[in-house]
Amino acid sequence: MTRLAPNGVLDVKALRGEFPVLARDIRGKRLSYLDSAATTLKPLCVINAVDRYYRHGTANIHRAVHLLSEEATGLYEATRTAACQLLNAADEREVVFTTGTTGSINLVARSFVKPRLKAGDEILLTGMEHHANIVPWQMICEETGAKIIVAAINDDGSLDLASFKKLIGPRTKFISCVWISNALGVINPIKEMIDAANAAGVPILIDAAQAVAHVPIDVQTLGADFLAFSGHKLFGPTGVGVLWGKLQHLDAMPPMLGGGDMIKTVTFEKTVYADAPAKFEAGTPDIAAVIGLGEAIRFVTEDVGFKAIHSHEESLRNKAEAALRDVVNLKIIGTAEPKLPIFSIVMGNIHPHDVGSILDSYGVAIRTGHHCTQPLMARFGVQATSRASFSIYNNEEDIENLVKALWKTQELFA
Ligand code: ALA
Repeated sequence: MTRLAPNGVLDVKALRGEFPVLARDIRGKRLSYLDSAATTLKPLCVINAVDRYYRHGTANIHRAVHLLSEEATGLYEATRTAACQLLNAADEREVVFTTGTTGSINLVARSFVKPRLKAGDEILLTGMEHHANIVPWQMICEETGAKIIVAAINDDGSLDLASFKKLIGPRTKFISCVWISNALGVINPIKEMIDAANAAGVPILIDAAQAVAHVPIDVQTLGADFLAFSGHKLFGPTGVGVLWGKLQHLDAMPPMLGGGDMIKTVTFEKTVYADAPAKFEAGTPDIAAVIGLGEAIRFVTEDVGFKAIHSHEESLRNKAEAALRDVVNLKIIGTAEPKLPIFSIVMGNIHPHDVGSILDSYGVAIRTGHHCTQPLMARFGVQATSRASFSIYNNEEDIENLVKALWKTQELFA
C-alpha cells in the first residue's frame, strides 16, 4: 500500500505506524532512532513475511517436490527477480545471495581478484572505506604480495577525485570503492569513478551498503563489474545480502564454498559445479531472510519510492544541519555535498561514548565509535565520533530531540 500523501510526498505519520519498534518508549522517553546507517528498522510487512515462512510454510528450497518446498523455492527465487529489478540487472543469474556486503566483497576478493594477483600488483580503494572493504583486500594482498593503494579524502570529507583517477595505473588490478560513506554520509561521484576504471580497463566493485536505501541503482547505466549490498540496511532482515556481478565474471569465478545445492553432479572423483548463481549459494541459505528481503525491496520500490525518499531525506538533512549548526562547540566531520542526513559529530573533548550514553537517556539512539572506519577517523585526527543517521521514518521531532539532548550534554560537561 502506498505510503505517499496525495501530493506525492511521504506520509511519514502513516509510515511510522508500520515500524513497531518506534512505538517503544526508551527509558520512559519517545524513541528517536537515529542509527539507521548501522541498520534500518524493519516494517511490519517484512516482519510478517519472515513470520509467515516460519509459521506457515517452512521448507527447504530447490530440493523437494512437495508443496511447502515448492512455495518456499518460489518465494526465494521471487526475491532474486525483485533484486534484479531493483538493480536493473540484465539477467537474474547475475544476482547472488550472500550473507551481506561483507560476504559479497569477500567472495569477489577470493574468487575473482586473488587468482589474478601477483606480487607488486595494486588494488585501489578510497580513504573512506569501511572495514568490510579494506580487510578482505588486505588478506589477499598478504597472500599474494600485492598491495593496497588509497585515494585521498579532502578536508570536507569528499573524495579527491583527481588523486583517485591518477592512482589508476598499469599495476592496478582491481578497484573497490564505496558509493556513500557510512561514517560521513558523503556521496561519491560514482559514475565518474566507474568511467575512469572502465577507461583503464580495470574491473571495479561498488560497495552500495549505504546507498541502497537512499538512491535508485541501475547497474547497466553505472557500468561497474560488481556491486554489493546488505538487506538489513534496506529495511530487510540481517544475515542476507546481494552480490551483483556481470554474468561473464560470475561464470568465470570458481565457487568459494562447496556443499549441497551448488553442484550438477558429485562423485568421489569429481564434482561438476552448478552455473551461477547457484554455484555461490552452497548449503541451506537463510531462506526466511531472503524472503524478507524480497518484501523489503517491494516495500521500498512500491510503497515508498526513491523520489519520495530523496525529498524527505533532503528536507531532514537541511533542517538537521541548520539545527546542529546552532549547538555550541559542535563540529560535523564530512560537510561535502551531496550527502545523506548522516552527521558525524565531535563535541570538543567530550568522549563520543559519553555523548551516546547521555543521548540514550533521552531516548535518542545514535552510534558512537569509529563506525568500522578507523582509517577515515585517523584521517580526521579523531578516534571516534557520535553519528546521527536519519531515514524515511524520522521527522522533525527526532531532530528536536537530538538537538535538545546535545545541549543537555553540553550543559553537563560545561
Ligand atoms: N557499517 C555499519 C555502520 O555504519 C555497521 O554502523
